[in-house]
Amino acid sequence: MESVKEKNHIDPAADRIPAHIAIIMDGNGRWAKERLRGRSDGHAEGVNSVHRITRLASDLGVRDLTLYAFSTENWNRPQQEVDTLMTLIGQAIRNETPDLKANNVKIRLVGDIDRLPADVQRDLYHGVEETSDCTGLNLNLCLSYSSRWELTEAMRAIAAQVRNGRINPADITEDTISAQLATSGIPDPELLIRTGGELRLSNFLLWQTAYSELYFTDVLWPDFGEKEFLAAISEYRKRERRFGRTSEQVRHTPDDPK
Ligand code: FPP
Repeated sequence: MESVKEKNHIDPAADRIPAHIAIIMDGNGRWAKERLRGRSDGHAEGVNSVHRITRLASDLGVRDLTLYAFSTENWNRPQQEVDTLMTLIGQAIRNETPDLKANNVKIRLVGDIDRLPADVQRDLYHGVEETSDCTGLNLNLCLSYSSRWELTEAMRAIAAQVRNGRINPADITEDTISAQLATSGIPDPELLIRTGGELRLSNFLLWQTAYSELYFTDVLWPDFGEKEFLAAISEYRKRERRFGRTSEQVRHTPDDPK
């Protein structure tokens, strides 16, 4: 089968494919409602999009794909919907792990995983273990995750280090904080995509997206496919990333953060 790169004449090295793409997958419920179907059908269809976009990102040579699959706030949804989502996440990871492994995709979990049901945790950790030697795309699944949760945890951890005398407050740097986040070790995203028409970050990667390009689309997550993904990347490639500097400075040292 012709790869997405061949079909679209994309050369990842020359074409500035973002190394890290983060996605807020929104619109499953509305997709289902438009079809007079239950919200679970929308989520099930959303899992197909996860499959599609992971494959595309892997084909394009993206290094990290970070998906907001279940937020801290999502625990407040009706219990039946929470249960459905948990079942779907467990099933998806069980079904997809062999294919992910075959495609050299490594799963990483980001969030308060202890809050998830024990059987789902087992499925997730099995996926992490099975793919631990993979060296291709890193698929970072944000589950029971929110930025304020992780920043609160990070502050607690740093405060404890200060109290133990292991660190001096004056020595706390941005790197000290980054190292305490749930995303520690993962470079910041170059591109953040949100589907489903809302124009907000909803407590997702607030620290990590300080310099990310933001791309919003009305397309609902279950409808988000190759055309939409390539359009987001193409829009990113048109943007000039200045990191607070002038255009003239950037032209001399492109893509140098801060
Ligand atoms: C937002 O749509 C979507 C979610 C809260 C869940 C997304 C989760 C999946 C697609 C499953 C992920 C599975 C794996 C293995 C990563 P919404 O319900 O907020 O839609 P609405 O805004 O139209 O109501």
